[in-house]
Amino acid sequence: MKTSLAVLALAGFAASAVTTGAATAADVVGNPKAAPSKIEMCIGCHGIPGYKSGFPEVYRGPMIGGQSAKYIESALKAYRKGERKNPSMMGIAASLSDQDIADVAAYYAQQTPATAKR
Ligand code: HEC
Repeated sequence: MKTSLAVLALAGFAASAVTTGAATAADVVGNPKAAPSKIEMCIGCHGIPGYKSGFPEVYRGPMIGGQSAKYIESALKAYRKGERKNPSMMGIAASLSDQDIADVAAYYAQQTPATAKR
């Protein structure tokens, strides 16, 4: 009896370890609340709604606020892999983890075209 309990406990542990591992690899869930510290470097080129209008914007990036999270995510991954070529975005995307990309995509997807500045 003691042995089978130990085996069960071990099996349970192994199963939960496998589940947790799969969850981090397959379903990275974007958390928009984790995004603000990660999008600081995007703001100069892509703008941010509600931000001071006088904020110096040196580059003109396309509007990403309000686009679907899937689109933003796949665009960033394409830059990271070098499938989409743009010197600024390739450098940026290379510094982002899958979790960063998911968070940032969730954040920008929350914006509506009306709240997004550009
Ligand atoms: C130095 C300026 C610059 C910075 C900083 C920057 N971007 Fe970009 N981004 C661009 C430009 C320019 C493009 C258009 C490139 C192209 O034509 O492929 C672009 C394109 C994109 C696209 C694809 C848009 C589309 O409509 O296809 C996404 C998504 C994106 N950027 C997200 C981000 C995120 C997220 C950050 C911050 C982590 C960021 N960018 C930081 C300049 C920048």
